[in-house]
Amino acid sequence: MELRDFLEARIPGAPRRLLPARAKRIGGVALLRLRPELEELGRELAEAVKEFYRVRAVYLIRGVEGVERMPRLELLAGEPVTEIVHREYGCVYKLDLTRLMFCLGNSFERMRIAGLTSRGEVVVDMFAGVGQFTIPIAVLGEPEKVYAIEINPVAHRYLLENAGLNGVEDRVEALLGDCREVASERLAGAADRVVMGYFGGTIEALPAALSTLKPEGGLIHFHELARRGGEEDLISKIMRNAIKCGFQVRLISWRTVKSYSRTKNHVVVDFLAAKE
Ligand SMILES: C[S@@+](CC[C@H](N)C(=O)[O-])C[C@H]1O[C@@H](n2cnc3c(N)ncnc32)[C@H](O)[C@@H]1O
Repeated sequence: MELRDFLEARIPGAPRRLLPARAKRIGGVALLRLRPELEELGRELAEAVKEFYRVRAVYLIRGVEGVERMPRLELLAGEPVTEIVHREYGCVYKLDLTRLMFCLGNSFERMRIAGLTSRGEVVVDMFAGVGQFTIPIAVLGEPEKVYAIEINPVAHRYLLENAGLNGVEDRVEALLGDCREVASERLAGAADRVVMGYFGGTIEALPAALSTLKPEGGLIHFHELARRGGEEDLISKIMRNAIKCGFQVRLISWRTVKSYSRTKNHVVVDFLAAKE
């Protein structure tokens, strides 16, 4: 049975077309988005969602704030749960759900990048979060080192903890600060591969990301939102900016990570760059 069928049977009168088709489930908690028309029925719906998924708590997602992507959640059913442990493809991620984001829709991309990383590489993860890319790369890719830069002290603390939980603390160096400064000041010329897992201004960190590449060059994985059909414009913009920084570039590929809204996708662009 689908969630929508269950809710329709439980709450007669709630218009079916407005009912959520699913809720995000992570660490025994459900995170629910509700159409404004249904907010009055929020608690009733959340109790039903809790029963349907057999989770400890159901939170309403009210939005995500700031560069740190802090979620705004409201507990609608069950007990308050903050810290959770999420397991994915042999990696473990601990985080406080009420203060940090963890996007389940990026799981294939996490595995793709870990799979591309060769033994002995040096990787820079510019927007490391709690280690969404750093941990699978360190666990599955056998790099020499992953330098993981994170601006939010809360996320940075979990990043350190997650490196320990996954037994890769010797391969991960977690750096607290703004990647636009930390990368160029501390990691110039160090990297074979740079992950830029962020959207809404990733281009601002491109000069710093490029500065971390080894003299022979390396690979950049650049994330951003793109209008559907407008991906070529984004790619041209990235390439133009890298060339302006004095780099030769070669596009390898791009792919859609996930749908973001009715008109936009989250995409990742892979390209090679080397100093001219
Ligand atoms: C949405 S999370 C993404 C985490 C991970 N890269 C992924 O793609 O799943 C973005 C992270 O980038 C961090 N961040 C934002 N601006 C930053 C900056 N200038 N330097 C370092 N970290 C930054 C935020 O605090 C947040 O933890």
